[in-house]
Amino acid sequence: MAGASFQKIKLLKKNNVGIVAITAYDASFAKYFDNLGFDIILIGDSLGEVIKGQKNTHNVSLENMIYHSQAVRRAVKKAYLISDLPRESSLNKLIAYKHSKKIIRECKINMIKVECNKNNIDVVEYLVKNKIPICCHLGLTPQLISRQRSFRKYGKSPKEFSSIIKIAQRIQKIGAKMILIEYVTESLAKELREVINIPIIGIGSGKSCDGQILVSYDILGISYNSISKSVEKKYFKIKDFESRIKKYIYNTKNFL
Ligand code: KIV
Repeated sequence: MAGASFQKIKLLKKNNVGIVAITAYDASFAKYFDNLGFDIILIGDSLGEVIKGQKNTHNVSLENMIYHSQAVRRAVKKAYLISDLPRESSLNKLIAYKHSKKIIRECKINMIKVECNKNNIDVVEYLVKNKIPICCHLGLTPQLISRQRSFRKYGKSPKEFSSIIKIAQRIQKIGAKMILIEYVTESLAKELREVINIPIIGIGSGKSCDGQILVSYDILGISYNSISKSVEKKYFKIKDFESRIKKYIYNTKNFL
């Protein structure tokens, strides 16, 4: 399979160099980000919002994921590639396995990302047992929530804090290779990094994660829906796209 190996991602963590990640959905942006040196490119189901113009990620289909993952795959030579398992594929372990295998086989990507809470750990377990490399997405999980008020910081209450730690420990034990945390409190992110050995990539979760990810359209300031609060305002002061992206890479690599 082309692209980076997971060894490289693990080495970055070991050497305390930030892992820098971004989303892409098409060949041109993917090639541009690959050439700028991103470690990970995610074909995110955020494509439901930024590409399809929908209000959330719920109606992204397997076909959508395959179409965009293939476009990105064609353009990327160096970065480690991850595709989201769409909502329709994640609700049952047999479907999740069949669809993950199809994405990996038809798009030659390196890893599948699954949104995770206490109710679908069995899906992750089944995928890992069947040799699918898995990144678990914890905290704010847009596929699993429908109410606007669920778009908030996670881990503020002691109960939620310890529940997310427990899920992370469980999925690490099961054999997930990476964790993405979205919109969790800085103190929860710090604690996770203390107790978890696999790489933790954060979005809107503070600077202490092993790496950062942003939705590309958000950092470019051209999102169809509102721009996520996870993009620090300092990037918007920089006028041209390329300097903005390079500053994000530099800051992430150096935990700034
Ligand atoms: O789909 C997506 O873009 C994501 C973000 C959290 C990076 O999962």
